[in-house]
Amino acid sequence: MEIVIAPDEQAAANVVADVFEQHLRSGPTVLGLATGSSPLRTYAELIRRHREEGLSFAQAGAFLLDEYVGLPRSHPESYFSVIRREFTDHVDLDPDRVHSPHGEAEDVAAEAIAYDRAIAEAGGVDVQLLGIGTDGHIGFNEPISSLTSRTRVKTLTEQTRKDNARFFSSQEEVPRHVLTQGLGTIGEARHVVLVATGAAKAAAVAAMVEGPLAALSPASSLQLHPHATIVVDEAAATALNLADYYRFALAHKPSWQQF
Ligand code: GLP
Repeated sequence: MEIVIAPDEQAAANVVADVFEQHLRSGPTVLGLATGSSPLRTYAELIRRHREEGLSFAQAGAFLLDEYVGLPRSHPESYFSVIRREFTDHVDLDPDRVHSPHGEAEDVAAEAIAYDRAIAEAGGVDVQLLGIGTDGHIGFNEPISSLTSRTRVKTLTEQTRKDNARFFSSQEEVPRHVLTQGLGTIGEARHVVLVATGAAKAAAVAAMVEGPLAALSPASSLQLHPHATIVVDEAAATALNLADYYRFALAHKPSWQQF
């Protein structure tokens, strides 16, 4: 794991955008996209680079992490709609190449298997963007998710439904079930970049980076990943015991070494 402690949210977003740009400029790229509020500044920065600096997504495809079960794609809070509104409609990414699990599929179990197959057929994800839930979930892999899980249906915790109620008119409206890439699926991405900002994420970040590898802290599965970049702001870094070491390592990062 490489831990990058950025001074603030915008600086964190700029680092993540740099990682995306590095991949996009190296050739055709399969992007792994996340929803939630954590990646929004990154998406805004990538849109800016597209408009002002010619960063192109024309050779890219994309796979979303997850989707609510039973929410129509036309619903403004379906992740199908959110990713288009917040990001992909504003860059030159072919809309037909922006994939997400069908939350309204008649057979959601078959849909999950088909989704994993589609990712594999696209050659796998080159760079996967992640946020983290306050309970340590990535995608919608809630605590005690199998560390080798594949895309499947999960039941949300009440904590996550409460956290996500701000996007709906009430907590009651937040679906109870979701389709999410599994921890094993996410772990197959060649480069994983997780962004976390704000004090509410500090405990989950510390458990992910410095806690034991444990299904109770799903993001700790990234400890097994050969190329994981964790980008946090100061507020999200406050519970890290080895923060000084991470700062030292970043300050002395060899000039030839990319993120
Ligand atoms: C959501 C998403 C995750 C996201 C997390 C944190 O429910 N399924 O992909 O990373 O919870 O959300 P936020 O970034 O809004 O704090």
